[in-house]
Amino acid sequence: MSSEQIAPLMRLTERYCVVYQTPAHPPGFALEPQLPIHAEQMFEVLSDPAIYEYENEPPASVDWLRARFARLESRQSPDGCEKWLNWVIRLPSSELAGYVQATVHPGGRAAIAYELASRYWRRGFAREACEAMLSELARYGVRNVHAVFKRKNVRSLCLLERLGFAPAAPEAYVRPDELLMTRSLSTGAET
Ligand SMILES: CC(C)(COP(=O)(O)OP(=O)(O)OC[C@H]1O[C@@H](n2cnc3c(N)ncnc32)[C@H](O)[C@@H]1OP(=O)(O)O)[C@@H](O)C(=O)NCCC(=O)NCCS
Repeated sequence: MSSEQIAPLMRLTERYCVVYQTPAHPPGFALEPQLPIHAEQMFEVLSDPAIYEYENEPPASVDWLRARFARLESRQSPDGCEKWLNWVIRLPSSELAGYVQATVHPGGRAAIAYELASRYWRRGFAREACEAMLSELARYGVRNVHAVFKRKNVRSLCLLERLGFAPAAPEAYVRPDELLMTRSLSTGAET
């Protein structure tokens, strides 16, 4: 289903809560700005070893994660040049499924990343959450979005293709085992 077909209804409620309603996902599917109060639930979500098949590792403890979320609560780099936007994904059941994040650089560029616990995979939640995030990023003046991931990570590749991303020019620098994919927000076309 395309963005046009699902005609997403985005609105801001309370303190930055992004509510994203589609026919597929009824009211209650939301991106919430990540806060320290999410640490306990997110520790359980992010402790799923399946998430780390290709890279990274689970959080060391709830306290470690809470401290990390507290550091990120400012939603910007220490020098204020970059926006560091992190959202947890709230399902209609009120469970947290994972997170989406974006680093917004000056000049209208942003890098995105995403992680969901494996029990929520293949249900369209990642695509829904990323589409909601991309709509939000347009409000921040972002025109070009990119993602870097391990080439073996077929799940990430499929998600990005579904979102309209395409591989970047071969000369773009990434490690040999990584792939860089980009998407223009204004047209949805490859850049
Ligand atoms: C990558 C990830 C977020 C995808 O989550 P997901 O919930 O399975 O994604 P969705 O259900 O929204 O699927 C998106 C599209 O990818 C496709 N897809 C997902 N996994 C797939 C797979 N293993 N094989 C084929 N297609 C796949 C889906 O079918 C869907 O396309 P469709 O709408 O045409 O059916 C999830 O696997 C994850 O959290 N992985 C661990 C973290 C990670 O690797 N992050 C990337 C580094 S930034």
